[in-house]
Formats: sequence, C-alpha cells, structure tokens
Amino acid sequence: MKIYIKAEAFEKHKTGCLVVGSFESKKTEGLVKVIDKRLNGLISKLFKDKDFEGKLKQTRLIYTQGKIPAERVLLVGLGKEKEFTIEKLRQASGGSSRAVKDLGLKKISTSLANPPSVSPLKKGGKGGLSAYDISKAVTEGAILSLYDFTSYRTEKREEIKRIDEIVILIEKENKEIKKGLDEGIKISEAVYIARDMINHPANTATPTYLAEQAKRIAKKSGIRCKILDRADMERLKMGALLAVARGSDEPPKFIIMEYNGGKKGEPPVLIAGKGLTFDSGGISIKPSEKMEEMKHDMAGGAAAICAIKAAADLKLPVNVVSLIPATENMPSGKADKPGDVVKAMSGKTIEVISTDAEGRMILADALTYGERYKPKAVIDLATLTGAVIIALGYHATGLLGNDKNLIEAIKKAGEKSGERVWELPLWEEYEEQNKSDIADVKNVGGRGGGTITAAAFLKKFAGKFKWAHLDIAGTVWEYNGKPYVPKGAVGVGVRLLVEYLKNL
Ligand code: BES
Ligand code: MN
Ligand code: ZN
Repeated sequence: MKIYIKAEAFEKHKTGCLVVGSFESKKTEGLVKVIDKRLNGLISKLFKDKDFEGKLKQTRLIYTQGKIPAERVLLVGLGKEKEFTIEKLRQASGGSSRAVKDLGLKKISTSLANPPSVSPLKKGGKGGLSAYDISKAVTEGAILSLYDFTSYRTEKREEIKRIDEIVILIEKENKEIKKGLDEGIKISEAVYIARDMINHPANTATPTYLAEQAKRIAKKSGIRCKILDRADMERLKMGALLAVARGSDEPPKFIIMEYNGGKKGEPPVLIAGKGLTFDSGGISIKPSEKMEEMKHDMAGGAAAICAIKAAADLKLPVNVVSLIPATENMPSGKADKPGDVVKAMSGKTIEVISTDAEGRMILADALTYGERYKPKAVIDLATLTGAVIIALGYHATGLLGNDKNLIEAIKKAGEKSGERVWELPLWEEYEEQNKSDIADVKNVGGRGGGTITAAAFLKKFAGKFKWAHLDIAGTVWEYNGKPYVPKGAVGVGVRLLVEYLKNL
C-alpha cells in the first residue's frame, strides 16, 4: 500500500472517491461548501433533509456525475466542533477509509489532513491540534483501519478487498504535515506487525517464532537482539520462568532487544512484555470454552518488540531495552503443580498456588534480569488478569506502579495516543494477600483485587526501580470492530509506549 501527500485543489483532484469531513452543522462550510456549489447544492439539500448531519462516524456517499473530477465524495461526520479531539479525527479517518475499502475501491483520497485554514478543521488550533497532530492522526486512522488478517484464508482470495493507494490531499505543501505522515506510517507499521503476531495461532506463533521475528525486526531496524534459550535460563537460575515452561514441549526463549538512540551510557527505559504464546492454565487448567483466546497471551511481548522497533524507526533520542520472556503454559507429566515451591532468579521463593497465574512468574525473572541495565524507568505490559476486565471492562488498560511521575507520564501518553489507561491503587495493604505460609511469596492473592495483587507480586521483583505495570487483558482484543481497530488483535501498547518515549 502506498500512502503519500499531494498538494492539489480538491475540486481538481481525479479519484474514485474523495473523503471530506464535516462538523455537525445546519449548513455547509469550508471545502464542503466549495463542493456543494459545484454539485448545485446537493449537499445543502442533504443537510436540510437531515440525510447527513455531520454526526461523528456518520458517512454519506455521493455520486458527483462528472461535476468534479472525483467520481464520488464520501462525507464523513466529525461531530460537534466544540467537542472535537484528535481521537475523533483518528476515528473519522479510520471509519471513512474502511467505508471506501468496503466499496471495493482501490484508492482513497482524503482531505481530512488539510491545514486549518481550508478544511472543516479550520479551527483546528483549538485543543492544541497542530498540523502535525492532524496529519499523524489521519494517517494512523486510515492505515490502522485497513488492517486485515488473511494469512490462513486459501479460498476466494480474489474477493479480499484491498486498498493500494491513500492520497493525503492538501492545499499547500507543509513540513509539519509531512512529518505527521512519516511518523504515522512508521508507527502503524509497527502496530500491524504486533497485530499479526497476536492474530497468528499458537501453532505458528511459538516462542521460537517470536524470537525469530524479533531477530528479523531487529536486523531491519538497527536494534541489537539476543535470544537466550533454556540452557541460558538454567545458568541464570530463572526458576520462575523455567517452572512455567516445564510443561511444554516448545522450547522457551528469552528475547532481549536493545536500541541505543540516546547518549552513550544514559540509562535506558526498560520494557518487559509477557510473551506467553499459549495459556492453557497448565495443571490448573482453564475451562475449554474460549480457551482459544489464550493465543493472545503474548500481546505484551508483541508490544514490547514492536514499540522498540517503532522507536528505532523514528530514531527517537532514547535508549530502550525490551525483554520478552516467551513460553507456553501447558499441562503435562513434567509441568509445575499447585503447591510447588520454585526459586526465582532474584533468589526469592514462590509458592505456586495456581499454575494459571503464570504471567507474573515469567515477568518476575524478566524484571530481575533487567536489573543489570540500571534502567531509569521500567514498564511492563501483560495480559495478566481476568480481574482487570471485571474492574475496567474493555476500554481501559489497568495501570499500577510505584512512581508518581512515571504514572502521570503514561496517563498523558494514553490520552494523546487514544490508548487509554486507568490507574488502580497499589497500597501496601494489598501485599499482605500474597504472603505464603512456607515461601517468600505466593503467586495468587485470593479473590479480591486480582489485578492489584498481581501487580503487588510484580512490585516485589521491580521494587528498586521506577516501575509501572500495564494490565492489557481487557484491551488486547477487539470483539466488535471499531473505526480504526478491526476485529481481532488491537496491537495495544505500541502507540502508547511510542508516545511515552517521544515525550521523554
Ligand atoms: N492470561 C491470563 C489472564 C487473561 C484472562 C488474559 C482473560 C486475557 C483474558 C492469566 O495468565 C491468568 O490466567 N490469570 C488468572 C490469575 C488467577 C489464577 C489468579 C485469572 O485472571 O484468572
Ligand atoms: Mn494464566
Ligand atoms: Zn496468562
């Protein structure tokens, strides 16, 4: 797919479909007005008859019948002008791009990124929307909405709809718009890779596959990459990770990626992602209903791999290390059992109450391994608890941590990127629930506050550093399809992390 900027008057642009945005309004304005005139007042009539009102996500297709070079115009609603946000623009761009694709067309021409003086975004200066913000949002919205996972379809492939070309139409060349486009493309590419990894079933996306993908990505983006295998883990005494891996015939991998865009010797930001390629629960086996969903239990790892890729592609001036403990969690004669006590890399002993609370075990050893980098901040991402879905549903990632500034920075990045987070308390009292009668800690803290006690467990292994934990169990998967997130893997965390790293 090609995506590029073209400076040309809209009413002169030749295309199958021109996307034009409009706020909720009683009359036509800006570009809509220009086109309306050329179409002899057709759009005014639509407004008058309330066939199109500019409501957010509303679309209306018009045939231009040769009155302008664009064969069709797709009107897309931007909602109330006063309530306009960058996220709404992303959605309008995504929704309209999807609509053009569904028409079976091959090319999208969008005017949504046009500088404030011309397009319906003329008051875009409000709410801090710069030309850069606008073009980045339009780019991300469009590309991300067109994602499709078709690797395993062998029948009727010719029926798969595909856009080959997106033209971002602007009145005048503008450096900021160009920058927004470039960044939007690079970030979206990273999100695509994350979505692919997560959508691939666990018989493809094994720990070995993740490690190979990480190596391939690292080579292409100029990132250092090292893979530890079982023998290395044994040498490092990663007893918690090894306990989880024990039941599976798939060899575990520990993926290390290092990007040095910052000053030499400057402490890195450490990202740790849960790379559980299939979570059956182990001996504490899960119910079979919906167990297939547990192929996505490596989404934190995918985000860690793809965020560092995007940081490298954007040449961000920061040092970043991504660590991804990757394994399956399976029952077998060799698997770890409830009641087992294992020794983590840090030397702490863990009583395994449930073999299904495996995410915190593998992350514990990743966090300990990360100590050698003396990171300035540690962020881990994991599909860690079903409890976060009970607490926050599907619209927010759970955020917990031990450092106020880090938490605030992540919240800010969440608002800006549209990958929203919500903080839960991590008071000392919760740590009581993880006390074991025979070991230093147990891996389940009882029924109440499951997301928090899981984070409290991790805190024991990340304690010395500024650390934040993102529980993405509720945000990892899109069940219905949203304007720029088709059904399936969301690729959550990539855009959030990149935004955080950019703001450093
Ligand atoms: N991977 C799961 C959490 C999960 C649940 C992710 C639903 C996405 C959707 C995790 O390993 C798990 O099984 N957690 C247990 C913890 C419990 C045993 C303390 C859970 O949430 O039930
Ligand atoms: Mn589990
Ligand atoms: Zn899991």
